[in-house]
Amino acid sequence: MTTPGRELYDDRHFFEGYRRLRDTETGINDAIEIPAMNRMLPSVQGASVVDLGCGTGQLARRLADAGAVDVLAVDSSWRMLAAAARHPRIRYLRADIDELSLRRCSADLVVSSLALHYVADYAGLVQRVAHWLRPGGRFVFSVEHPICTASDPMTGWRRIAEDTVWPVDRYASEGPRTQTWIVEGIQKHHRRVATLIGGLLDAGLELTGVDEPEPSPAMVRRHPHLAEHLRRPPLLVLAARRKQPDPSVPGR
Ligand SMILES: C[S@@+](CC[C@H](N)C(=O)[O-])C[C@H]1O[C@@H](n2cnc3c(N)ncnc32)[C@H](O)[C@@H]1O
Repeated sequence: MTTPGRELYDDRHFFEGYRRLRDTETGINDAIEIPAMNRMLPSVQGASVVDLGCGTGQLARRLADAGAVDVLAVDSSWRMLAAAARHPRIRYLRADIDELSLRRCSADLVVSSLALHYVADYAGLVQRVAHWLRPGGRFVFSVEHPICTASDPMTGWRRIAEDTVWPVDRYASEGPRTQTWIVEGIQKHHRRVATLIGGLLDAGLELTGVDEPEPSPAMVRRHPHLAEHLRRPPLLVLAARRKQPDPSVPGR
């Protein structure tokens, strides 16, 4: 039996393990993902923002504190939402990203941190995101790198003789994967880099940024275990923009 992401974070055992991991602040979130997202995010002064898979709302809070006027922070887990700090400009919504429907042209920015590898229908989601964005609006998100999600099960480093290697197998075969991480039987979804980028282009968005972030040398000196992320990329960060209508084309 596998547990999809929309149910996983309400499993008490998983939730407590995940919170302990995040509280140590030595994982990839604090060392790699948050700095990479910060580099990719546009100015949010006066912006309406949607955060997909907001968890306890850390990114939503950073964006509200940076000047966003309205942040709709969406997550399927009541445990994560119950642990989220309140903020006058954040509205939390318990909903499944796969079923989320919002008003057309209602957002200046849609963000997602490490949640979309749990979503089954990526192409459908990106089409909806493009619909929610105003012209010129941005979509910025991070996912586990496809090099990390390819093998099934997602076993991680494998010992071969005196060394360890990261196995990459079944890369072109997209679909559900299982992983043991804190608990057994977690379900994630593997997609090729080409599919993640192609989904944005197919939805009529312009690609504006690609990053495969790694820990900085200072981070690795402080937390030597992070050096493994220099051997293969743990994350992929993508940024896209909804095109502005071309004023020279009548009727657009
Ligand atoms: C790794 S956590 C990331 C949380 C937060 N974005 C952060 O970076 O701290 C993934 C989050 O995605 C949520 N999630 C997974 N699948 C979801 C779905 N289908 N709909 C809504 N939320 C989902 C989980 O409940 C969890 O809070």
